[in-house]
Amino acid sequence: MLNIKTCLLGKLIQIITDIPLMQREADRLREAGKRIVLVPTMGFFHEGHLNLMRLGRKEGDHLVVSIFVNPTQFGPTEDIKAYPRDFERDCAMAESVGVDTVFLPPADAMYTGGYQTYVSLERLPLHLCGLSRPNHFRGVSSVVTKLFHVAKPHTAVFGEKDRQQLIIIRRMVRDLNFDIKIVGGPIVREDDGLAMSSRNFYFSKEERLSAPVLFQTLQAAQKLVEQGERNSRRIIAMAGELILSRPHTRIDYVSICDPETLEDVDQIDKEALMALAVYVGKARLIDNTVLHAVRD
Ligand code: PAF
Repeated sequence: MLNIKTCLLGKLIQIITDIPLMQREADRLREAGKRIVLVPTMGFFHEGHLNLMRLGRKEGDHLVVSIFVNPTQFGPTEDIKAYPRDFERDCAMAESVGVDTVFLPPADAMYTGGYQTYVSLERLPLHLCGLSRPNHFRGVSSVVTKLFHVAKPHTAVFGEKDRQQLIIIRRMVRDLNFDIKIVGGPIVREDDGLAMSSRNFYFSKEERLSAPVLFQTLQAAQKLVEQGERNSRRIIAMAGELILSRPHTRIDYVSICDPETLEDVDQIDKEALMALAVYVGKARLIDNTVLHAVRD
């Protein structure tokens, strides 16, 4: 069913819930020579999402944002029902940055009875977040493939905060010959450096004070590298101490790895990806940066 809905700002934004209808709308736009940009999301927008949409706006003529809390990327111990949702608010925020279409498919339409087809990559998901969330990236690459087939974008935008996800999507697009340009959007941070995330709503006051330690750790690591440190183990040891010096923190991983393959690197030659996953209270936060070695 196609809905044209007026959101708070009074402009018209198109809301499509039906998959074949989204496909026909994409065909119509393509036939009219419009370039479609897709920003896939799970909703509950913050400034980080809006920035991806602003970036997307510049990349084409028709901006589609999908909102779908994808069940196949949640693990058995992760509570999909607890994932925050506020469609009315999302719709108004999307409209404020010039989104043309919100695609909002129901879960039973995306995964019909007897569903059994998945896209999975062989090596990239075996690192970083994939270690503690074993089927997560299989769910992500599968749903993104489906969204590509439904919204038929020329360009799709993903955030650099989920760096492993972005690397996986780029690899999948190359491997499966999707004719889609993938654009990475920079991490958007609060004033104290905390990367914006839907998970930031779960903090107590005390936990919120500890949360910027991820960014502080990445900054401290870059400083060490600039001072000449090249040994990953020593940097990781510093990172562990700094993170655990803050109350309510528990480390999932601290990794320094190759920015393409995500394999661990022992020595930082030119550049390396430093990625962190840290529990602050119940919220599992991730952050990353590319460490740049200044030439000796
Ligand atoms: O980054 C997200 O919000 C999700 O992993 C995505 C890309 C929308 C797939 O469900």
